[in-house]
Amino acid sequence: MTFQQGRAAVVTGASTGIGEATVRRLAADGWRVWAVARRAERLAALADQTGATAVALDITDDDGVARLVQQVTAGGGIDTLINIAGGARGTDWVADAKTEDWEWMYEVNVVGTMKLTRAFLPMLREHGTGTVLNLTSTAATASYEGGGGYNAAKAAQRAMTRALRLEEVENNVRVVEVLPGMVHTEEFSLNRLGDKGAAENVYAGVEKPLTAADVADVVAYAVSVPHHVNLDEIVVRPVAQAAAHKVIRRTN
Ligand SMILES: NC(=O)c1ccc[n+]([C@@H]2O[C@H](COP(=O)([O-])OP(=O)(O)OC[C@H]3O[C@@H](n4cnc5c(N)ncnc54)[C@H](OP(=O)(O)O)[C@@H]3O)[C@@H](O)[C@H]2O)c1
Repeated sequence: MTFQQGRAAVVTGASTGIGEATVRRLAADGWRVWAVARRAERLAALADQTGATAVALDITDDDGVARLVQQVTAGGGIDTLINIAGGARGTDWVADAKTEDWEWMYEVNVVGTMKLTRAFLPMLREHGTGTVLNLTSTAATASYEGGGGYNAAKAAQRAMTRALRLEEVENNVRVVEVLPGMVHTEEFSLNRLGDKGAAENVYAGVEKPLTAADVADVVAYAVSVPHHVNLDEIVVRPVAQAAAHKVIRRTN
């Protein structure tokens, strides 16, 4: 990818995993980047290493989002919003669903993505060649036992993304959706399952799950191609995962 002079992005979910890798990749490509998540210390370390600007906030908090818009405006604005913050809580079947887990997943994946998008759309429209990239999941398109809450949240985030593409085309805002399959990140399965052993079992025997850097490469490519090119829905999985239900695991 060529040096992306003059490009600027807000990246959420930047304190770890795919978001952090995306900040590193875009900064290395010459982008001006605002790195957003809740954990300030992790963001500060990332900012030191990459030159990105750290902004600690909860994406579901309206005041925090409004402050971010002010800060970004004062810093020259962005042409690209990359919504990566999100995640899963629990694997309970619907019969045993924990309301608080379902609410958390909807709030962060759907409402948080909506709040950031709503807040930055005026700036992206005014720019003239804006881009919104939402990171959903293959969980949005294939449900599985124990996935109901996450499937529902990611399907809702995907549905919102598809509506946004239709709504913003007159404003020349490009809307991209990236749907990863299995990505071995430090925290995703740990946060979902609550213990290290269970989290590692998710990837057991899978020779090469995707890494955060693999997905960051795809994200960076999608937002860096000329603006009239819209990779509107990108499914990215490890080769060992031919489908959500078919994962090759080596046992020796
Ligand atoms: N790993 C996978 O297999 C996989 C596959 C497909 C899709 N995805 C999706 O890809 C995205 C990133 O995944 P990942 O594996 O990198 O996840 P992760 O390691 O769990 O990272 C989630 C990120 O979101 C941030 N975040 C969570 N709640 C937030 C809030 N309320 N406000 C601001 N930031 C918040 C977290 O930072 P703080 O805790 O510091 O706020 C963290 O930076 C998620 O949307 C996930 O659903 C993951």
